[in-house]
Amino acid sequence: MIVCVCNALSEERCREAACSEECRTVGCIYRRLGANVQCGRCLSTMTEILYEEQDRRAAAASAARRDKLPARA
Ligand code: FES
Repeated sequence: MIVCVCNALSEERCREAACSEECRTVGCIYRRLGANVQCGRCLSTMTEILYEEQDRRAAAASAARRDKLPARA
C-alpha cells in the first residue's frame, strides 16, 4: 500500500524506516527515506505507523528484559 502518494512511499518502506532506534519522529521517517512532506495528507497514517512501530519495539525490549530475569522457583 502506498502511504505517501507525493513521495511514492510504501507502507513497508515507512515501517522499515520507523523501526530504526533513532527514528523518534514522523519527520525522521521522511528524512530516512530521502523525502519531504508536501501535501501532508499522509501525516496521520505516518504517525500511526510510527506509534505502532514504537509500541512493537517497546514490547520486544520488554520481552527481552523479561527473558533475562532469573526463573522463579
Ligand atoms: S501524500 Fe505524503 S506528502 Fe502528500
